[in-house]
Amino acid sequence: IRCQSTSTEEPKTRRNLLDNASNFLTNLLSGGSLGSMPIAEGAVSDLFDRPFFFSLYDWFIEHGSVYKLAFGPKAFVVVSDPIVARHVLRENAFCYDKGVLADILEPIMGKGLIPADLDTWKQRRRVIAPGFHALYLEAMVKIFTDCSERTILKFEKLLQEETLNRGRKTIELDLEAEFSSLALDIIGLGVFNYDFGSVTKESPVIKAVYGTLFEAEHRSTFYIPYWKVPLATWIVPRQRKFRTDLKVINDCLDGLIKNAKETREETDVEKLQQRDYLNLKDASLLRFLVDMRGADVDDRQLRDDLMTMLIAGHETTAAVLTWAVFLLAQNPSKMKKAQAEIDSVLGQGRPTFELVKKLEYIRLIVVEVLRLYPQPPLLIRRSLRSDVLPGGYNGDKDGYKIPAGTDIFLSVYNLHRSPYFWDRPNEFEPERFLVQKKNEDIEGWAGFDPSRSPGALYPNEIVSDFAFLPFGGGPRKCVGDQFALMESTVALALLLQKFDVELKGSPESVELVTGATMHTKNGMWCKLKKRLT
Ligand code: HEM
Repeated sequence: IRCQSTSTEEPKTRRNLLDNASNFLTNLLSGGSLGSMPIAEGAVSDLFDRPFFFSLYDWFIEHGSVYKLAFGPKAFVVVSDPIVARHVLRENAFCYDKGVLADILEPIMGKGLIPADLDTWKQRRRVIAPGFHALYLEAMVKIFTDCSERTILKFEKLLQEETLNRGRKTIELDLEAEFSSLALDIIGLGVFNYDFGSVTKESPVIKAVYGTLFEAEHRSTFYIPYWKVPLATWIVPRQRKFRTDLKVINDCLDGLIKNAKETREETDVEKLQQRDYLNLKDASLLRFLVDMRGADVDDRQLRDDLMTMLIAGHETTAAVLTWAVFLLAQNPSKMKKAQAEIDSVLGQGRPTFELVKKLEYIRLIVVEVLRLYPQPPLLIRRSLRSDVLPGGYNGDKDGYKIPAGTDIFLSVYNLHRSPYFWDRPNEFEPERFLVQKKNEDIEGWAGFDPSRSPGALYPNEIVSDFAFLPFGGGPRKCVGDQFALMESTVALALLLQKFDVELKGSPESVELVTGATMHTKNGMWCKLKKRLT
């Protein structure tokens, strides 16, 4: 959480801003009687000195898996418990909405799935989720491969130049920035068949996407709704820029929607799901959404859907790849093991859907990265009615009554690093997902059992009974989970097929900052050396 004041604001506007902030915090932190719940007292410095979720972790160890975090007179509930998470996300999911998150994202995503009201969400989820069917994902593996190869080619050219000009055998690159471009290209092609080409060029649309992402990030780390200040979007230069950026993206999306509608070939869902995806010129989700019989929708809603997926599916995947190289670079034996698997499964060839199934170790690396660096580290909910949270594994066994309007932070970071559910929770051990873990001591938690989700390529919240939640769970679970997991697997495999990667500086010099995702303060600078083949 960061705070700053802008010197360009008038004193009166600033007073309004503070009033607004206080109202907002009142809503955000609406507490009420939370019974015997342990209380952590937050100091303002906890919000500024380091990423917020580190403090949430320390309080979790001190106060248990469900506690009330109080800042002054207000409070919110922090949950680090799979049994309570399962209740909020799945068992009583419709008793909660996205609370403050919806306030932040609505101006950007409109009525897209993440901030949408319940009725809109139900309607759109029913239409969008079938779009991520098996043949679509198979076609996406081709797009992931094409785009990753474009990135690798760029690295190879840079290395050639470096060798020619300076006689060096390594290049230094900020891989976080490179992965961000790669993920943007992939999401553009996969979701609306638009090639940003950002790996190799800059354009006004690309700049606008980054501007919008920056603002979305800033809003999610700044719990004061400065963007709601009257006239701010017209007067404050940053807000004006944000409006302009949004317009650039919206115009681009509107053009793509218009084009897709003009070439519409209406058909049933089942037929759509059986198209020859690998040979379709446009295999995108937009094509599916427009062609689907009975799913007529206005352009504005379609644009909100696309914008939501653009934002939700871009930085998240880029972050997985970034932290994957961070962890692998510190574990050379695991990097070698990964490369041995790639050599044996792919050789010098390209990944396909079938081959991804054989890249077991790379898939485990991807999920282990998501365990240690979940994106986002917190899930946010607000209770629409009063509810009783189940007793957590080390909390009050009778459970806690919470009033309507309670804000809840489900700390995925705490769950994923909980010493109660994971052995050596802070260690990078992809192999851990192969091991069954029973825990009879923990009443109400079914333990960790890979066989519980037969056929799933990647461990999920079901095998872990909500101790591992990289994509949430229940009805609001990520729609793009398989897309993102395969994308990360393919991109990582192609990078390690060609290059050895080392960090440029020490791991400690990589500063972590967090907003919607966890990223670095100054980039993930790495040295890349071509592998001998
Ligand atoms: C929702 C994580 C990639 C689209 C979510 C949620 C999580 C998540 C945790 C649930 C949020 C909540 O319950 O509050 C991730 C991660 C990704 C990723 C870690 C990458 C590694 C993607 C991609 C897409 C996507 C690639 C689209 C192509 C969405 C959408 C939702 C969502 C639309 C809202 C679902 C709903 O409310 O019905 N994501 N996501 N995500 N994600 Fe992802």
